[in-house]
Amino acid sequence: MNITVVGTGYVGLVTGACFAEMGNTVTCVDVDSTKIAALEEGIIPIYEPGLEAIVQENQKAGRLRFTHSLEEAMEESALYFIAVGTPPGEDGSADLSHVLDVAAEIGRNLSQDAIVVNKSTVPVGTAAKVQAVITEQLNARGVAFGFDVVSNPEFLKEGAAVEDFMRPDRIIIGVESERARQVMADLYHTFSRNHDKLMFMGVRDAELTKYAANAMLATKISFMNEMANLAERMGVDIENVRKGIGSDSRIGYSFIYPGCGYGGSCFPKDVKALMRMGEEYDFETRILRAVEDRNQAQKHRLFEKLTERFGNDLSGRVIGVWGLAFKPGTDDMREASSIPLINQLTAAGAVVRAYDPVAMEEAPNHFAAELFEQGRIILCDHQYDALADADAMVLVTEWKPFRQPDFNAMKKLLKQPVIIDGRNQYDPYSLKVQGFDYSGIGRDFGDA
Ligand code: UDX
Repeated sequence: MNITVVGTGYVGLVTGACFAEMGNTVTCVDVDSTKIAALEEGIIPIYEPGLEAIVQENQKAGRLRFTHSLEEAMEESALYFIAVGTPPGEDGSADLSHVLDVAAEIGRNLSQDAIVVNKSTVPVGTAAKVQAVITEQLNARGVAFGFDVVSNPEFLKEGAAVEDFMRPDRIIIGVESERARQVMADLYHTFSRNHDKLMFMGVRDAELTKYAANAMLATKISFMNEMANLAERMGVDIENVRKGIGSDSRIGYSFIYPGCGYGGSCFPKDVKALMRMGEEYDFETRILRAVEDRNQAQKHRLFEKLTERFGNDLSGRVIGVWGLAFKPGTDDMREASSIPLINQLTAAGAVVRAYDPVAMEEAPNHFAAELFEQGRIILCDHQYDALADADAMVLVTEWKPFRQPDFNAMKKLLKQPVIIDGRNQYDPYSLKVQGFDYSGIGRDFGDA
């Protein structure tokens, strides 16, 4: 098939590359000419395992190309994916301006019957808005073509995006016509071979499914974070509780890891956007409010644990931070728990020595420049450098090299053997035996 994908962010690039990998001819479009120029050279703007190889191979094979001209791309195909960003507006609602701009441009250039697929995460009712914008443009031109707007939300995880696209749990497709249903079934049948993963539903149903999935996962995490904080006060080890409840197949083991809060480009944004949608329908989303509140508070837990040990004034203290990305496997720092932690630490007078295996280049974009200039944040070349003369080590992102570190070396480097484990990666009992003052999330046993 001949496919146009508009937007070369995470979702657009992975979608385009993976469709090309399956033998389709794909043109990826982006308004950012610098990005397009880099992509034409096979340089991808994000860190995503496996993606660069797929992009380069398919470019070489002539199945994947990049352009900044949607008009030109549209001449070649009649299947258009919209995969542009929907950043949060000031009130938390998803900003649809990019999506609707693309819709208008499609309307201005449409010259045949077509299918327009929304892959961006968009509020319920957006497909109808896209439909209206395209129709308005066609009317202004005095032309008429048959077109359908389909909702096909993406569920890929950063760091596993290619795998998630190639082997999805399910493929949600919101359609209103038999013609669109047939085209989407043809496009996706190869991803659905082992068992039927295609789930057809109404367009609005598909739009809400995406938000409900992310909100449910965020709810599981916030619930566990709440249990962990409670467990701490009770002297209970949350890790035992996690295993104990995860073994119930109705609950399951996934997304019940307590930690220092969820981040990334989806959960925080989508929970807020869904709350806003609730308001528009005059409905109070009480659970979502609690999920969001708990997450905000959870992002302060690591700082609180440090001030419980060292007092509120951290002047003269040095804190070693392991992990800046919002999770392992990505350089993405959007809504990362490291950001409020480091800002709180520097505001309280501490110097932060930080290390991340891949997010070091990204880090300066997320903190005030003077924090680096004044030496209040020092980016270190190695995980152990970050601990030199530090009063404590804080684990924020559970990258693999942080999981079984050399504790002897750490003890020698640290001024005080304090480990604050924001992702429950270490064994509190063994660290205690080795002479560390250890605190995890929901496993903070003091001197017990
Ligand atoms: C998420 C969804 O998983 C994906 O389906 C959707 O398309 C986009 O949003 P992503 O943001 O890439 O994907 O990351 P994910 O692996 O889901 O983690 C999100 C955050 O939750 C991370 O900050 C992670 O550290 C945190 N998390 C996850 C926990 O704190 N505990 C858990 O048990 C699981």
